[in-house]
Amino acid sequence: MLLWVIAGTDQPFTLSFAPRRRGCPGVTMRRLVWLLLPLTAISVTLLLPGFLCQCEPPVEVPESLIAWTGACLSIPCLYRSCVLNPIRTKKLTISSLTWYLNPVYDPEKKDFNGTVLYKHNATISPAIAGRVRFLGDLERDCSLQLSDLRASENDSPPAPQIQAPSELRDSVAAQAVCSVAYHCPDYPITLTWVGLGHRTPEPNMRMGSGRTESTLTFTPTWQDHGTNLTCRLSTPAGTPSSESSVVLDVKYAPKGVQLNATPGETIREGDRLVLMCMTQGSNPPVSTYNWYKDTQWLHQGQEQRLEFEAKGDEHSGSYFCQATNEIQPVPSPALRIDVQCECSQIQEGTTVVLSCSCRAHPPVSSYSWYRNGQHLPEQTQQELRFDKIHPDQSGSYHCEPQNRVGMLESPAITVDVQYPPKEVQITLETPQRIQEGDTVMLNCSVGSSNPPVTKYMWYKDNSQYQETQESVLTFPATKERSGSYSCEAQNTISYRQSSSVSVDVQYAPQHVAVVRQPSGSIKEGEAVTLECSVGSANPSALHYAWYKDEARQGENSNRLKLAAVVSADSGQYRCEAKNDVGTTHAEPIPLDVWYAPRDVQLSVAPQGQIVEGMEVTLRCWADALPPVLGYDWYRDGQLQERQTQDMLSIPAVKVGASGHYHCRARNQISYGDSSPIRLTVYFSSMTIAKNSALGLGVVAVFIPLLVVLVFALRHPQSPGISTHGAGQPDLCNRLVQPGNSAPPPP
Ligand SMILES: *[C@@H]1O[C@H](CO)[C@@H](O)[C@H](O)[C@H]1NC(C)=O
Ligand SMILES: *[C@@H]1O[C@H](CO)[C@@H](O)[C@H](O)[C@H]1NC(C)=O
Ligand SMILES: *[C@@H]1O[C@H](CO)[C@@H](O)[C@H](O)[C@H]1NC(C)=O
Ligand SMILES: *[C@@H]1O[C@H](CO)[C@@H](O)[C@H](O)[C@H]1NC(C)=O
Repeated sequence: MLLWVIAGTDQPFTLSFAPRRRGCPGVTMRRLVWLLLPLTAISVTLLLPGFLCQCEPPVEVPESLIAWTGACLSIPCLYRSCVLNPIRTKKLTISSLTWYLNPVYDPEKKDFNGTVLYKHNATISPAIAGRVRFLGDLERDCSLQLSDLRASENDSPPAPQIQAPSELRDSVAAQAVCSVAYHCPDYPITLTWVGLGHRTPEPNMRMGSGRTESTLTFTPTWQDHGTNLTCRLSTPAGTPSSESSVVLDVKYAPKGVQLNATPGETIREGDRLVLMCMTQGSNPPVSTYNWYKDTQWLHQGQEQRLEFEAKGDEHSGSYFCQATNEIQPVPSPALRIDVQCECSQIQEGTTVVLSCSCRAHPPVSSYSWYRNGQHLPEQTQQELRFDKIHPDQSGSYHCEPQNRVGMLESPAITVDVQYPPKEVQITLETPQRIQEGDTVMLNCSVGSSNPPVTKYMWYKDNSQYQETQESVLTFPATKERSGSYSCEAQNTISYRQSSSVSVDVQYAPQHVAVVRQPSGSIKEGEAVTLECSVGSANPSALHYAWYKDEARQGENSNRLKLAAVVSADSGQYRCEAKNDVGTTHAEPIPLDVWYAPRDVQLSVAPQGQIVEGMEVTLRCWADALPPVLGYDWYRDGQLQERQTQDMLSIPAVKVGASGHYHCRARNQISYGDSSPIRLTVYFSSMTIAKNSALGLGVVAVFIPLLVVLVFALRHPQSPGISTHGAGQPDLCNRLVQPGNSAPPPP
């Protein structure tokens, strides 16, 4: 524990260890005293008598807190529930609270003597009051904060403490917690993390109850192994003040496993070959190495190296190693080793002579020949001759010359008879039926070849198509790739071509369209043929279906015949063609059957009685395809007007316009007539009045004349005279429509 000085204006005083007090402090049970920190004491006075000592200590405070020069000291403090509510039924109130510095218990007074830092509801020395802040209340919290701390010696903040897992795993998330037993809101410190390079994620800071904590959640990688993860404490000004570090131990599987060959990947027979299984790192270290050649397990051991004397065929091949530690085994990429044999490479069919020569005295009397260690009893000459050497005659030969004194064994010589690829065959590895979108695989197999095949040439329809290193050729099946394929295997001697195989890619019908005969306009009664035209399809056996406006029509035929079309045959026609692979729809085409105007109807507006001077509109309507071109207007069978509009307007109709009207609608095909409509135009009331007046005038002239005549002739009776005025053509022409008659003129 550090010793602290609070520098007062008049006199400094020292915070120091004080003896911890146990048991009940005095006779009066009203007062309970408990030492808080070794530094300070708190006194809590309760109002209720009979409070029991069992509730000691009355408050909860941290075991220890730290602070340093310039920092502040916040003492978190909570009343214990037994202080607040010792007897369940009676609620207790704290009446007084006192914080002491350097307290000394006075048994006589049964109280503490010391510097009072805080006393509830009381004034304390201003020198102290300026540095002390009570953060609590009388209900829950009794925290106190001391600021402007000075140490007796110049000190610095202690190092924060890091808690981190002792072992981490590559790419597995982990947490590290950095903490310090300090938290004072007036002098907040920060804890930052360094050491994970740019990848250090944002930590989670937590403060309170006398602690400052920073939690870092991070995902270590194998490169983090052995690095320091540091937590740094900085003052509010941002100055780093102290830090601590942990060295990360990240466990990971072997990394960068690779096979190295010395002196190289291509060596001569008889060289020493050293293979090294290298890793960039492994934690824990590699425990075992496994060795493989051409995927066959070879050897297991703790040795990182594998060493042997290279022999041609036996040691040529593809090698890899596998490094294993506690975490997992990791294989290296394969490394191809070529051991070139020191032997005579001879082409099949050439003449070869092996000669056995040595110095001997007395001269050699007989020669024995051996192939692969087997004695060749027929061969006894100094020379072994092959006129047309065959691949079967390859092998390791040696001779044994003999004289009277003894016999000698020659070194062996290897005869390697080379030949072009043999038994080159192409096979189609894809199932019988190839459909568009499948993957086609051709396999070029070679019975034998010495030296091995170096490349394959692929032919399509007898022309070069592609060259590959692999013996298989794959491609997506398309119509264009159908054809006859063959392959050619090549080695350094020569090449051989296979027979051919046919690739037949099947596909759904293509370019399906509806074709109409005749094209152009179709009139009712004409014959029409629709044909479903298909560009191509494989297989070519097709099923057809016809649709008119999505309704199935006709039969399975590529033609749809309409003998005598009617307008109801108009619509959108399409066909679909189907083979084993799929169905293809044609774009629908329209069929419009033309017909003469029909349902021709004439209407008159306004309806009801039509009086001279009114505006009358006649309207003609007809159903026609193509639409009506023009309308002819007839009155009483006489053509009155010819126009393109479907409406005839008479602005101020006269009585003389009355008559039987009909209209005729015309299109490119023909015409159609409406039924006639009778139009009656009546006199207006003005005309009637005018005519009546004229009638009365005539009467006025005739009466005196009549009187004269009556008197003159003394005839009591005279013939009646019509009241119809002469010279009134409009009146004479007037027509009476039954049921719609106007009042008769006087
Ligand atoms: C308290 O202690 C101080 C110093 O030890 C002493 O001077 C003072 O008289 C004491 N006060 C009481 C009331 O005992
Ligand atoms: C605080 O002191 C004042 C006067 O000194 C008094 O009136 C008041 O009741 C006291 N409050 C408490 C909660 O003791
Ligand atoms: C890691 O920290 C230790 C002390 O904790 C120190 O000795 C060492 O030099 C540090 N290493 C690095 C790489 O910073
Ligand atoms: C190619 O053909 C050979 C001989 O028939 C066969 O052994 C080999 O597995 C085939 N390869 C593929 C990829 O099908």
